[in-house]
Amino acid sequence: MKAIQVGLLGIGTVGSGVFNVLKRNQAEIRRRAGRGIEITMVADLDAARAQAVVGHSAKVVKDAREVIANPDIDIVVELIGGYGIARQLVMEAIAAGKHVVTANKALLAVHGTEIFAAAHAQGVMVAFEAAVAGGIPIIKSLREGLSANRIEWIAGIINGTTNFILSEMRDKGLDFDVVLKEAQRLGYAEADPTFDIEGVDAAHKATIMSAIAFGVPVQFDRAYVEGITKLSAVDIGYAEQLGYRIKLLGITKRTDQGIELRVHPTLVPARRLIANVEGAMNAVMVQGDAVGTTLYYGKGAGSEPTASAVIADLVDVTRLHTVDAAHRVPHLAFQPDAMSDEPILPMSEVVTSYYLRLRVADQAGVLAKVASLLAGAGISIDAMIQREASAVGGQGSTQTDLILLTHGVREGTMNGVVAQMQSLPTVLAPIVRIRKEELA
Ligand code: NDP
Ligand code: HSE
Repeated sequence: MKAIQVGLLGIGTVGSGVFNVLKRNQAEIRRRAGRGIEITMVADLDAARAQAVVGHSAKVVKDAREVIANPDIDIVVELIGGYGIARQLVMEAIAAGKHVVTANKALLAVHGTEIFAAAHAQGVMVAFEAAVAGGIPIIKSLREGLSANRIEWIAGIINGTTNFILSEMRDKGLDFDVVLKEAQRLGYAEADPTFDIEGVDAAHKATIMSAIAFGVPVQFDRAYVEGITKLSAVDIGYAEQLGYRIKLLGITKRTDQGIELRVHPTLVPARRLIANVEGAMNAVMVQGDAVGTTLYYGKGAGSEPTASAVIADLVDVTRLHTVDAAHRVPHLAFQPDAMSDEPILPMSEVVTSYYLRLRVADQAGVLAKVASLLAGAGISIDAMIQREASAVGGQGSTQTDLILLTHGVREGTMNGVVAQMQSLPTVLAPIVRIRKEELA
């Protein structure tokens, strides 16, 4: 049978991985897919560099529309990134009746509803395994492997760059900027690395998982997003003393009031497996009512790990050519007419526990005042440490750090209490607040 012909748009970090892995494992992949899968056309702005990667095995063009217009191309793989030209090209490929494979989480988290509707209307597939957690097959797990379950929550380390930065800073005492540059060199970081460090990339991925888990439309604009740029080494140290690690988690959770969708630095008990996920590795915990807690771990970024997921999608789409298209898995797992309008909750309604660090005057009554404000709002303290003043500011210091762990409280309530504590004359610096999840 004739090989499936693939047109690749963008042959950078991921695109070159796809080309190389497909070539290397062609025979094995053909046995799995039932047909050969060949990249016969590549579009990239840097045609000379692209030609150097593919040699004579594929036609290289600068204009991606030439690929889409080619009637011989069965599947278009979009690996350009971003919401601009990538969106236009994906919509044009769908309109031209091509199946699309993409790793572009930004595009799907923001424009997924429009893209999936267009694909549904055209009867083509948009596959996106590589968009979440790189090489880990989490989309397939959520959409298919766990489809018996009522998913309760998902919590994941889903940005390799930030996990790499946090690990290297903690283990090697390296500076933030140095580690970020290394993550860029290794091909982990987004074209705009602020997407990584400000939590936007993780929020894109959490948004996609939330839609698949709960059968709601993708709603990136409803996600709460907080990155790691304000995180200080001092808090990483105090968290360790209390038995916790700080990780940037993407969390989505079903509650009676609606769905939580949030990304922020989070204290996680050091004994949890996920707390020990280091470097650019990703891990996603999924809690289902039948299966209980499951954990998926692997490389979340990089050329060949991401290519592994892209090619799995190519195999899936290739298999479609021999089965009844009407029975394939819906884009967001739930049938389009069965999507729910359950609301994504505002962050003020989310209930979590907190790590608080207050730089306070080392005077009698300060702790009592802080405790009474918390008690007045019904917030219960779980643990507390107070540093000796000299340990904070040296001999003779009149300042000290007060570190508190609280039990669960509504974010809106905590906001009010933090504002009250901040206005105390004995609180000498902005209060540091990091949310905490037991993930039990
Ligand atoms: P790169 O920047 O390495 O590659 C993108 C390629 O697309 C570049 O070669 C670029 O050329 C080319 N390009 C830009 N505009 C056009 C255009 N109009 N037509 C044709 N080619 C174009 O990005 P990555 O490979 O890292 O990422 C690709 C996608 O995969 C993104 O959506 C990213 O979020 C996603 N992803 C990346 C992962 C990773 O580990 N890197 C992991 C998971 C997902 P030029 O360089 O000349 O601009
Ligand atoms: N920039 C992303 C990361 C790439 O660091 O995880 C994988 O999506």
